[in-house]
Amino acid sequence: MTDTPQLLQVEALAKHYPVSTGFFKPRALVRALDGVSFQLDAGKTLAVVGESGCGKTTLARQITMIETPTAGLMRLDGTDIASASAETLKRMRPQVQMVFQNPYASLNPRKRIGSILEEPLIIHTTLSPAGRGEKARAMMARVGLRPEHYGRYPHMFSGGQRQRIAIARALMTDPKLVVADEPVSALDVSIQAQVLNLLMDLQQETGVAYIFVSHNLAVVEHIADEVLVMYLGRVVEQGPKRMIFDSPRHPYTQALLSATPRVDVVQRKARFIARGELPSPLDPPPGCAFHRRCPHTIDRCKQQVPELRMIGSHLAACHRAEEI
Ligand SMILES: Nc1ncnc2c1ncn2[C@@H]1O[C@H](COP(=O)(O)OP(=O)(O)OP(=O)(O)O)[C@@H](O)[C@H]1O
Ligand code: SF4
Ligand SMILES: [Mg+2]
Repeated sequence: MTDTPQLLQVEALAKHYPVSTGFFKPRALVRALDGVSFQLDAGKTLAVVGESGCGKTTLARQITMIETPTAGLMRLDGTDIASASAETLKRMRPQVQMVFQNPYASLNPRKRIGSILEEPLIIHTTLSPAGRGEKARAMMARVGLRPEHYGRYPHMFSGGQRQRIAIARALMTDPKLVVADEPVSALDVSIQAQVLNLLMDLQQETGVAYIFVSHNLAVVEHIADEVLVMYLGRVVEQGPKRMIFDSPRHPYTQALLSATPRVDVVQRKARFIARGELPSPLDPPPGCAFHRRCPHTIDRCKQQVPELRMIGSHLAACHRAEEI
């Protein structure tokens, strides 16, 4: 039993995009998300990691209610947000905000910082202009921006400062959850740690929960409580951060870790880099979707999809997780 209440419950979530594969050919389905389940407690951080194309942004777009999932269940604070009415979605949207990868593209270049921050309050609250201004200035101070920045335009800021502005904007409606999609990937390495520390400080102060999307395990090592590893639209491993970093059970997680500079030399020796490319989600391999890249493949892997199951103290989807 935990004393933190469950904030988000996601069960068997799927998003399939119909795509055209050519003239006179039937439309095919990209299974961008194919049965993803997890839970997130209030005030905690779940890191979602995996290679490009594994479905991380698709997951973010369902949870932030930007898109409607093809199937599955999502409950935020007990309220269904997967198949909710327009009215319910309108009420729930301010509770989940998003921070995007590119701070240059995500801020309107024609608006001053003050009005960028106040815009969500105009949409979602009945605060007066004076009340909005006060809240925007207070938030600027919390994310390390100075009062004179209020009247400036986005182009006058560095990438790191712009991401601070984007984080401030996301927090303006006091959301319970912020979904950050590769929020530091476009920043200089020297700035990344500052933005990660800011996110962690803000979590301490406000109790906001994060879903933190990254292709880079090193980036999530400090910020994550739980880690969810995705491969081709499915969860292949999930558990408390220390379990995933110290005793990964899925060969794909092991491959991701061995490509991560932090992993110490002794551990790295036992690991490998996944060969080949991510298969097309239009035509996923049968059985375990990782079997053509995995060094431990046996016949069973080519035929039978491995279920996500408890291995020791966390979840992994591999037929051979006990042995490797
Ligand atoms: N609107 C769409 N229509 C068709 N296919 C899509 C759409 N959005 C995403 N996809 C496909 O779904 C798969 C997952 O894409 P997604 O953007 O979620 O991956 P990602 O893990 O965020 O990758 P990256 O690390 O490159 O951002 C990809 O194969 C992508 O081409
Ligand atoms: S199920 Fe088989 S192919 Fe898939 S990761 Fe495990 S050992 Fe490798
Ligand atoms: Mg993405």
